[in-house]
Amino acid sequence: MSTAVEKRTARIELQDQTVELPVLVGSENEPGIDVSELRNKTGYITLDEGFGNTGSCMSSITFIDGEKGILRYRGYPIEQLAERSSFLEVAWLLIFGELPTKTQLARFEELVKQNALLHQDMRHHFEGFPASAHPMAVLSSMINACSCYHPELLETENLDENERFLLIVAKLLAKVTTIAAFSYKKSIGEPQRYPDPKMDYFRSFLHCMFSVPYDRYDPEQEVVDALDLFLMLHADHEQNCSTSTARMVGSSGANLFASMAAAVCALWGPLHGGANVACIRMLQKIYKEKLPLATIVEQVKNREFLLMGFGHRVYKNFDPRALILKRAADKLLDKLGIKDPLLDIAKQLEEVAIKDEFFLERKLYPNVDFYSGIILRAIGIPLDMFTVMFSIGRMPGWIANWKEQYDQPRKKIYRPRQIYTGQTQRDFVPVEQRG
Ligand code: CMC
Repeated sequence: MSTAVEKRTARIELQDQTVELPVLVGSENEPGIDVSELRNKTGYITLDEGFGNTGSCMSSITFIDGEKGILRYRGYPIEQLAERSSFLEVAWLLIFGELPTKTQLARFEELVKQNALLHQDMRHHFEGFPASAHPMAVLSSMINACSCYHPELLETENLDENERFLLIVAKLLAKVTTIAAFSYKKSIGEPQRYPDPKMDYFRSFLHCMFSVPYDRYDPEQEVVDALDLFLMLHADHEQNCSTSTARMVGSSGANLFASMAAAVCALWGPLHGGANVACIRMLQKIYKEKLPLATIVEQVKNREFLLMGFGHRVYKNFDPRALILKRAADKLLDKLGIKDPLLDIAKQLEEVAIKDEFFLERKLYPNVDFYSGIILRAIGIPLDMFTVMFSIGRMPGWIANWKEQYDQPRKKIYRPRQIYTGQTQRDFVPVEQRG
């Protein structure tokens, strides 16, 4: 990993002292003040709730310029990758740093195919979950359970032997799709379908999701391509909530499976990966109740309504993933001959919102979740599984970030400070004397 360059210093004037701190500049000229010595030198810490101004690491995986709507994986623009690459190729790029050669890619695809089966005993775990279990809870539990069946994967020693790490990566990317499909089958009371190594990654996954014993599901190529695109666009997004979780858990030395299970939980929330579900629910509500869009916008302004799939902590102009997915949604629905009223509502809502002062002032635009749900619906993915799909997509980014941190010569556990605002010291009162 290339490190940021120290260019100049920043002087911080405190009440009683002045301190000079190094300014580091990244490869895209992003400057940052290195405050790691601030407390040692002054006794002060920095406070940044929500971490909007805090860099937690130096990373060479993904670059985002939120003002300009730029997203690049390892330097490659997302638009080029969306047009010309595939999910597994991008997964390799993110995790190993360079695009794979033809031989590397073919071998990687084969390894992923060959590792999709779960240990047979793991099927009993699915029987133990109630049919109503949330698939994100099942996904997280089962990723962790994988480590019980593959103890060799718990070893974090010598991961630098590339072959061993490659196998772990293939197992994770493959097994996560099987777990997702098995949990879906359980939730609808259908028999689980085994992955088929004769099929490619996506066809095998869709087969596990939608084939029944008397009818094998054979998706149109456009469905496979749309799924590939959806997952690729979700593959990484620098230091978001779930990726930071993967790094944080990994920083304690926890293994890859434990760290990935934790990242799935972090993604679950509606302000993060769960937004794609919340967005479709919102569009469904607008459709069912025939709510006028002007009323929705008024409610948003009165803080009675959060427009799901809008706004982003980093993008303050447009989210390039949303632009690509909007076009892809149009193309897929057209090809499949689907007329989804939710897509029309989404487009109209965007039209109204992007001309409104409230949204313009706050730089609120559709994010990746605004159109992705329309694509997943068209593919036949049930709403409950949307965030699981996001997890499958984000897995390469989590792994890449976990490994980047693992490879650091000087490992440091994540341990933020706080500014304590509770009671100052007081004496214990025995229970008989409390009022
Ligand atoms: N609808 C209405 N108002 C909003 C929205 C929204 N979706 N998002 C932000 N605002 C307003 C917010 O009320 C605030 O207004 P004011 O300054 O008057 O109080 C202003 O915009 C700034 O909002 P913020 O909460 O400080 O922004 P943030 O950077 O902390 O939050 C966000 C980012 C994504 C959590 C937020 O925009 C949001 O809750 N969006 C809806 C949920 C969503 O779509 N999440 C998916 C994010 S993309 C997928 C991912 O990366 O996980």
